[in-house]
Amino acid sequence: MLIRPLEASDRKAVQAMLAGCGAFSEEEVTVALEIFDSGEMAHFGAEVEGILCGYVCLEPVALTRSTWHVYWLCVDASCQRRGVATALMRQAAEFARSKGGERLVVETSGRLDYERARRFYERVGFRQVGRIADYYKPGDDCVYYCKLLD
Ligand SMILES: CC(C)(COP(=O)(O)OP(=O)(O)OC[C@H]1O[C@@H](n2cnc3c(N)ncnc32)[C@H](O)[C@@H]1OP(=O)(O)O)[C@@H](O)C(=O)NCCC(=O)NCCS
Repeated sequence: MLIRPLEASDRKAVQAMLAGCGAFSEEEVTVALEIFDSGEMAHFGAEVEGILCGYVCLEPVALTRSTWHVYWLCVDASCQRRGVATALMRQAAEFARSKGGERLVVETSGRLDYERARRFYERVGFRQVGRIADYYKPGDDCVYYCKLLD
């Protein structure tokens, strides 16, 4: 597996990964692509056998000294449960650390279909630190996770 920074020319692959991970609505895909196009966040992709199959993006949180927010993470369904997201998160952590980051923060949904995402974050060292009921919409809580970087 190769982990590398994404470039503007990877846009089609990013769109395919977002559609192919089996979690995001059309609106969410549009927002993720807007973030990609803005070039404001660091994006890293994972290639398996030369094909991009997952990506992560993150940025430092404004007005904090050393907190980074992981904004988007997805892995194409055909490549899931093979350690791709684990490798991407390792890269995200190393990158943030190299820029002085001391913690990663993630917001995710409390819905049943996000159970795998929550299991994933816990597996790679995030701790659940908060929850806001009905944050996204009635019955759809926001769950906050934090991972300290060593
Ligand atoms: C969540 C997601 C990124 C995980 O990617 P992945 O490459 O399959 O994850 P990994 O293979 O690195 O999994 C590492 C560990 O996470 C946990 N995990 C991952 N997928 C899981 C699943 N479907 N069910 C239960 N646990 C899961 C397991 O503990 C796994 O370790 P194991 O395979 O040794 O049991 C992927 O399922 C995905 O893209 N989901 C849709 C998008 C999404 O929910 N993104 C996060 C939104 S905030």
